[in-house]
Amino acid sequence: MMLENWILTILVSAGVGSVLFIVALFMLVRNNAHANIFWNELVLEKITNFVMDQSKEQRILNSVSYNAIRGDPESVLDCIDKYCSKNEWAMNVGDEKGLILDKIVEEIDPSIVLELGTYCGYSAIRIARLLKPKARLLTVENNAEFVPIAKEIIEIAGLSDKVTIIQGFSQDVIPQLKETYQVDTLDFVFLDHWKERYAPDTILLEECGLLRKGSVLLADNIIFPGAPEFIKYIRSNKRFECTSYPSHLEYMKLEDAMEKAVYLG
Ligand SMILES: C[S@@+](CC[C@H](N)C(=O)[O-])C[C@H]1O[C@@H](n2cnc3c(N)ncnc32)[C@H](O)[C@@H]1O
Repeated sequence: MMLENWILTILVSAGVGSVLFIVALFMLVRNNAHANIFWNELVLEKITNFVMDQSKEQRILNSVSYNAIRGDPESVLDCIDKYCSKNEWAMNVGDEKGLILDKIVEEIDPSIVLELGTYCGYSAIRIARLLKPKARLLTVENNAEFVPIAKEIIEIAGLSDKVTIIQGFSQDVIPQLKETYQVDTLDFVFLDHWKERYAPDTILLEECGLLRKGSVLLADNIIFPGAPEFIKYIRSNKRFECTSYPSHLEYMKLEDAMEKAVYLG
């Protein structure tokens, strides 16, 4: 009888403990953006990939293929934004910071643009749809699984003639831009790859003679996840004039910012 009571007490405690743990986890994921991203990216996404036998990026492409209007960049952007805010979070620059990107592209009206970090092609579409005839965007992506997906999404948006996707690491591609891609200097560079590469790649762009007086750099995710080395480098450098654009992380309420740096030569 004693033993049965003990077993019953242990079972009830374990049950109550599990329920409390699930409730606490649920509240944390609901109310904390960091926990929410961690949960979505490292738990939910992995389970969904396993069950559906396809990646999140393939699901984004499927959604675009079914829902977007071919040849209409706005409908492609709208479709990705809807999918990523309602279904699965993804690391596109997103609609809110996208407006800052749009404004800067419109101000500069660049002829030649470099983007570091293509992912599914969302920001490439944002930039390319605003480019004048004959202007071009070179976008660099090292992940071989993302490149064909971005290619297809950009093709659906009807912008393939303006965008060249270069598969490789930024640090390998930048030194080839002059010879292989006939770049003289860049009008605009959008830095949106891994944050620890922002500073060394900016230095590399300078060393390779790819920046001219008036070239504009725009860097995403200055607060989340943050690029402290890059910020220290450009803000303490007299060759750059910097402006911060406060905003929020894509599809979240979490604070983020973009940093514009104009090269003064
Ligand atoms: C935040 S995502 C880019 C999002 C994209 N710009 C958009 O807004 O739609 C970052 C991408 O950079 C790529 N990446 C990271 N480090 C890189 C590097 N050194 N060279 C090229 N691509 C890189 C990653 O594979 C990832 O696809």
